[in-house]
Amino acid sequence: MADWQASSAESAPREPECVVQLRAVRKSYNVGSPNETEVLHGIDLTLARGEFCAVMGPSGSGKSTLLNIVGLLDRPTQGLLSVCGEETTTLDDGALTRLRGHNIGFVFQFHNLLGAFTALENVMLPMLGAAGFPSPAMATRAAELIDSVGLTPWRDQLASHLSGGQQQRVALARALAMNPALLLADEPTGNLDTKSADTVFELLRRVNRECGTSVLFVTHNPALASRCDKTIMVVDGLIKA
Ligand SMILES: Nc1ncnc2c1ncn2[C@@H]1O[C@H](COP(=O)(O)OP(=O)(O)O)[C@@H](O)[C@H]1O
Ligand SMILES: [Mg+2]
Repeated sequence: MADWQASSAESAPREPECVVQLRAVRKSYNVGSPNETEVLHGIDLTLARGEFCAVMGPSGSGKSTLLNIVGLLDRPTQGLLSVCGEETTTLDDGALTRLRGHNIGFVFQFHNLLGAFTALENVMLPMLGAAGFPSPAMATRAAELIDSVGLTPWRDQLASHLSGGQQQRVALARALAMNPALLLADEPTGNLDTKSADTVFELLRRVNRECGTSVLFVTHNPALASRCDKTIMVVDGLIKA
């Protein structure tokens, strides 16, 4: 087994049962300035291992802020957040980056692929980032991931030459590169036609079922939300019961 595979397996523990736990999480922007605004007003949320949870709510209600906090891209202003059993609020930036890199995959509405790189290269990037050097094992793993999202014929195409649905499938394969315990998907189907959206959703569902990956899936589509294990509604910075 290559070094990057060993280290990712070791640092992505499959215990404990709660992958995400938020207690009374508040988030303010522009703290200390005259235009300080509190956007999240005390969020309690638990995501169990293997749970697939839809996140719905109006635009501007705080869904992306919530996902960015759970994904350790941003810090809560108050409250407690544990990810994969680790309390994060006291961790320094380096520790947060390591926890994120080994445990969390992201898929955004706009795929954020590097257009001048091939589909395969885009999927290899997180592994390269973690190991610091390329290896044949990475290319093999990336090719398997590309295959799992049904894109083998397009593997060596530049990302910028793929359709929107194909790009989002590459983004999903890239998010899975480190075999994360948690997948955060912020409106991943928001920009897709119905058929492509269904394909991407089914891929997310399959990863969730086959790998036990926990998923937070932001969507405005009630039909897709109804196919998740549960739905939370975010309204004005609070989870509505
Ligand atoms: N970096 C920021 N600085 C100040 N306000 C922000 C910032 N990011 C988001 N907001 C505000 O926080 C609120 C929630 O935004 P967001 O989490 O993006 O909502 P949603 O994803 O539900 O549409 C909005 O009022 C938005 O304008
Ligand atoms: Mg948003």
